[in-house]
Amino acid sequence: MPHRPAPDDVLRTLDDAAWEHGASTHLEHLVEGGHVLHFPRLAFALHSGEERFLDPAWSDGRSKNISLRAGAVRGARGRAEDLAALAAMIGRYAASAQSLVERLFPKYRGKLRAGNASLRPFAVEGRPSSWRKDDARLHVDAFPSNPMAGTRLLRVFHNLNRDGKARTWRVGESFADLAERMAPRLRAPLPGSARLLRLLGATKALRTPYDHMMLQLHDLAKADLGYQRDAPQATVDFAPGSTWVVFSDQVLHAVMRGQHMMEQTFYLDPGDQLVPGTAPLHVLEHTLGRGLLRRDA
Ligand code: SIN
Ligand code: FE
Repeated sequence: MPHRPAPDDVLRTLDDAAWEHGASTHLEHLVEGGHVLHFPRLAFALHSGEERFLDPAWSDGRSKNISLRAGAVRGARGRAEDLAALAAMIGRYAASAQSLVERLFPKYRGKLRAGNASLRPFAVEGRPSSWRKDDARLHVDAFPSNPMAGTRLLRVFHNLNRDGKARTWRVGESFADLAERMAPRLRAPLPGSARLLRLLGATKALRTPYDHMMLQLHDLAKADLGYQRDAPQATVDFAPGSTWVVFSDQVLHAVMRGQHMMEQTFYLDPGDQLVPGTAPLHVLEHTLGRGLLRRDA
């Protein structure tokens, strides 16, 4: 049975003060159980001259993140030497996050695949957004163009703010509770729709029934103002200099306030988990009583 932490029990605070070394290890059961691992003393040190990169003016104005993909900076503009320094800073964060997850989760060693690392320089407040893109509404992460086919999203966040400003999140009910609550409203994909989306270039791979369900969970939660207001939830503050680690496809979260964050995404196959049954894929399959990886042929 999946673990169902109540919102005010989601956070697990740990004392580690270094990325490579610390007492915390073998925490797979906690993160798979829907907890946010919170490290208030785990700071990411900036090198001299790097504070300038916290200025949103480095953004190219089109993307909300500055990211590092295959060694190249995206979403930023500036002189080549500045962009190289920016890439080095984000790359150092990626390496720190890698060291951390290898230490915290020995079971995942050699199995986690690193995705993008990013710097998010903009203030959360007042960011204009459609309801679907509004991350101030409780949601689980799911992306329309990027089908995951059950692959997990493990994220390492860090608050880099220099003005004493916390990053404030809300966290919600457990994934199993969300799945059960929304199950009566979940619809199967239309026959042929996955192939059509792929043909049109709207998705980068075939959208599996799992991805279709995850997108519906994301949208049903965000669109439902009653759910946003009344669903079980707790507010958590991540102070400047703190780090937190979470399966963001599993833990309902919303960001309310904050500025200056770093983030590294890792991918993990549910079969490489300590307890694969806690994966959203398996919880949804159990709740709905059917397999969700059949391709829509
Ligand atoms: C999100 O994944 O919803 C964004 C979290 C954040 O910006 O703090
Ligand atoms: Fe999110």
